[in-house]
Amino acid sequence: MAGGLMSTLGDTLDVTAIRKDFPLLERSVHGKPIVYVDSAATSQKPRVVLDTMTRYYETINANVHRGVYYIAEQATNEMEAAREKVRDFIGARSIREVVFTKNATESLNLVAHSWGRTNLQRGDVVVLTELEHHANLVPWHILKAERDIELRFIRLRDDGQLDLDDLDRLVDGAKLVSFSAMSNVLGTLTPVRRIADVAHAAGATVCIDACQFVPHLPTDIAELGADLLAFSGHKMCGPTGIGVLYGREDILDAMPPFLGGGEMIRDVRLDGFTPNELPWKFEAGTPPIAEIIGLGAAIDYLNALGMDAVRRHEVELTAYTLRTLTERFGDDINIYGPAEPSQRGAVFSFSFRDLHPHDISQVLDQQGVCVRAGHHCAKPLMRVLGIGATARASLYIYNDESDVDALADALDSAAQFFDF
Ligand SMILES: Cc1ncc(COP(=O)(O)O)c(C=O)c1O
Repeated sequence: MAGGLMSTLGDTLDVTAIRKDFPLLERSVHGKPIVYVDSAATSQKPRVVLDTMTRYYETINANVHRGVYYIAEQATNEMEAAREKVRDFIGARSIREVVFTKNATESLNLVAHSWGRTNLQRGDVVVLTELEHHANLVPWHILKAERDIELRFIRLRDDGQLDLDDLDRLVDGAKLVSFSAMSNVLGTLTPVRRIADVAHAAGATVCIDACQFVPHLPTDIAELGADLLAFSGHKMCGPTGIGVLYGREDILDAMPPFLGGGEMIRDVRLDGFTPNELPWKFEAGTPPIAEIIGLGAAIDYLNALGMDAVRRHEVELTAYTLRTLTERFGDDINIYGPAEPSQRGAVFSFSFRDLHPHDISQVLDQQGVCVRAGHHCAKPLMRVLGIGATARASLYIYNDESDVDALADALDSAAQFFDF
């Protein structure tokens, strides 16, 4: 069936022009033009990011913070200029609050390792939610095994939203409330500020896993009420190998270093060491310089589009996707997560008839359509949903209705392939 629901999205983003910026989107797989709908796993990279990194290696490459010669200073300046771009992009007050890590997982592990081991003793309470990615679960499980802290969970409602009825009781006495701003499985946008306000009123610190949020919505630390916030560069047009931990300055100041060596020291003696000032205190060893500079270029790219426009585009595309898939497949498809586009991101986990998600993904791949299948690193959430796995399509700035129609057409092929 062809895409009969084609309608033109509002002039939020010029997707035809944007697509031309992404070299990978020009390729074909299995003789079909690629339809990349797996941006929740990682986004594609615009040419400007690739060129920026190549230019760095070809003309500047030198280690940072150590050399006094010209290109070493240039490398340091470019890296620190990228930190300023990150600061501005998320509305942090100072570059002292912007720590570079390897990815969101490392950022959250840094929080658990350093803040957790400093502030949490036996019996102390950390509140999480049922929809967390493993990156915001396992570090706390490790701490629980090590020092017997208590983990409490905000439950998920049937409509894909968090159940806040019990929030006051859950956060009562808690030291930390750590949760995702947007689910990588359901697309749910969680009520971050509301939870943060209740957590703060109870005296808890608030840590946000913003890995799926920062690439897709305007981010303002103060508006969100975040004390700590983690995200990855590779989901927002940047390279892999670079992540960010935002931390309120007084909180980071009071945290001990995470890893030791390299740039994180001010002085080392045979009887001890003095850590560097923020944010370098948390950046041990040679940093991923090209990746940091590449992330800066990705931020410039997103800023040129405008994050408000990015969000508007995704809300419209989400509405189109929900409408198209339900009108074309009715009861044959079950899309998880909130039904209302304004309450979610463009991430669509679904079950299709009784096909196994891996089979769906393989048959879609033959049509050039890249969707993910599995538990999406959220096994506890899968258990809450009563399933083992889903297929998941996730959209970004370079996707439009034609990708949604291609996805739907490929699902038709899957149904035919399995002879329904
Ligand atoms: C919500 C969420 N948190 C954390 C992560 C971990 O990100 P990374 O693998 O880049 O560390 C992901 C990645 O999919 C995610 O979706």
